[in-house]
Amino acid sequence: MDRKLRVANIGMKFGMCHVEGAMSYGAEIVAICDSNEENLRFAGERYNIPEEKRFTDYMDIVNDKDIDIVTVAIPDQQHVKVSCDLLRAGKNVLCEKPLALTREDLEEMVRVADESDAKFMVGQICRFTPAFEKAKELIESGTIGELYFVESEYAHDYMKLCDNWRADPNRHGVIGGGCHAVDLLRWLAGDPKEVFAYGTHKLLPMVSYDDATVAIMKFDNDVAGKVFVSTGCKRDYTMRTVIYGTKGTIICDNTSPTMTLFTTDEDGVTKEAQTIEIEVNNHNAAREFEVFADAVLNDKPVITDAREGSKTVAACLAIVEASTTGKIVKPDYNF
Ligand SMILES: NC(=O)c1ccc[n+]([C@@H]2O[C@H](COP(=O)([O-])OP(=O)(O)OC[C@H]3O[C@@H](n4cnc5c(N)ncnc54)[C@H](O)[C@@H]3O)[C@@H](O)[C@H]2O)c1
Repeated sequence: MDRKLRVANIGMKFGMCHVEGAMSYGAEIVAICDSNEENLRFAGERYNIPEEKRFTDYMDIVNDKDIDIVTVAIPDQQHVKVSCDLLRAGKNVLCEKPLALTREDLEEMVRVADESDAKFMVGQICRFTPAFEKAKELIESGTIGELYFVESEYAHDYMKLCDNWRADPNRHGVIGGGCHAVDLLRWLAGDPKEVFAYGTHKLLPMVSYDDATVAIMKFDNDVAGKVFVSTGCKRDYTMRTVIYGTKGTIICDNTSPTMTLFTTDEDGVTKEAQTIEIEVNNHNAAREFEVFADAVLNDKPVITDAREGSKTVAACLAIVEASTTGKIVKPDYNF
């Protein structure tokens, strides 16, 4: 392509990260959309978007023939409908996580993405977080030996965030935010084959679902795992993650400038901890956009495609089911 990539962005709150990610890549922002006029005006002025290219109806983006990539950052309940309309119109789509909140929507998304020639990516952003990328590299290089236990958490105080679509009972904290930790463990250790969970509800009176959940998981190759999700916690946001291997351990977070690596000597005894300095970038929208643009321009497969995004939500749905039924659940990854 001998011109700049032409990008449109839908949803102008968190979605402004996508505008900035695309701009830092060098793409041209040709249109923006938000159904709220005030949010639309704010973003339009901030990014110098001409008024005739600011839309309140996303169908104006769907019908624009001159757009290469569209980013979608609107309430989770609308991801599938809007992404499918865009894909059917031939747009390449980068959509926020979680892909969807129900099995029915996941299946619809996979079907439409399969039928489309355009590319689709779910923004599972932890796969672009420097500390987690480094952890993945250390695992794959064999530095910590064979995995036997992996744990991650998503702890974020939603006290001021839950007065809207986030209070929908389908938008359980394990799916909405916990999908980050679940996706991270899937990326590092594979698909959990069985899950069990307990939930509690003491912090967010405005929601009907549990605001804290702990899930334990069984992976292939004799690996166990744990995810803790708290959406009402009284502390700073964290995704502290610990990865235990037979020859070492990694302790990292998406909010810390350092990570800790333990390795062993030739007798298998733990050596002194090493501190690794790492960039803090818990929403690396620039890297995420770059990877998607590369897939679009060079016809490469998208790693976090509709099927992969669906598997992450399937594992989350299994955790919610386990915590409500008190039974071990096998996630259904058959999409
Ligand atoms: N990756 C992350 O770490 C991360 C962080 C925050 C939010 N998110 C995701 O981003 C998405 C948006 O979250 P948010 O915090 O910006 O929500 P928000 O409610 O603050 O903002 C959503 C925006 O979308 C607009 N909107 C709603 N429906 C629309 C429609 N049909 N067409 C056009 N605009 C529409 C709203 O007017 C609003 O401006 C969600 O899917 C959320 O889960 C991801």
